[in-house]
Amino acid sequence: MATKKPRKRAVPEGSAPEPVDDSLDALRGAAMGCKRCDLWKPATQTVFGEGPPRARIVVIGEQPGDQEDLSGRPFVGPAGKLFDRALEELGIGRADMYVTNAVKHFKFEIRGKVRLHRSPDPGQQKACRVWLDGEIERIRPDVIVCLGAIAAKAILGNKFGLMKQRGLWQTLPNGARVIATVHPSYVLRQRDSESRHMAYAAFVRDLKPLARL
Ligand code: URA
Repeated sequence: MATKKPRKRAVPEGSAPEPVDDSLDALRGAAMGCKRCDLWKPATQTVFGEGPPRARIVVIGEQPGDQEDLSGRPFVGPAGKLFDRALEELGIGRADMYVTNAVKHFKFEIRGKVRLHRSPDPGQQKACRVWLDGEIERIRPDVIVCLGAIAAKAILGNKFGLMKQRGLWQTLPNGARVIATVHPSYVLRQRDSESRHMAYAAFVRDLKPLARL
């Protein structure tokens, strides 16, 4: 008797598989097949958050970059290295944190041989929101660290002004405390070494309260 092959459930455009249970792993599994916006098409893979599911600190960036897209891991490229350097200076272990992004696919344009970062638009940020919300709901961190305006606005609302409110603690209705600072890429983008040095010092200063937690 011929055995019937199980039919693959087609995932229509604009959708994603449902997590099979309430765990972070199941959420990650579902996010791997995300087609909620068009960013999955040119990207190599979904780059989901990484770290202990019971982490007390969740760090949120904008979106994976070139190296993250290729490796499947958040903050492993130049921005991640700068962030690691700041954490090391402050004596904070990244391994205790859960590190993720507001958007889980790399958005880029091709210029010659390089893939240049492009900011995700509001529709793409909204489509991806389900994953970030799901990560935070499952981890329930005490502290959220937002790197850059896209992460800060996702957590603190569109009125949040990064340059005015960076480094100041905010409290969410669920009791989680939030601190926002510039994105490490902002530090790397500074024109000369003096500006870079100053931007880096301010970045470390903003993160300093984490060392006391
Ligand atoms: N920039 C981000 O915002 N996140 C990453 O994972 C890498 C670079």
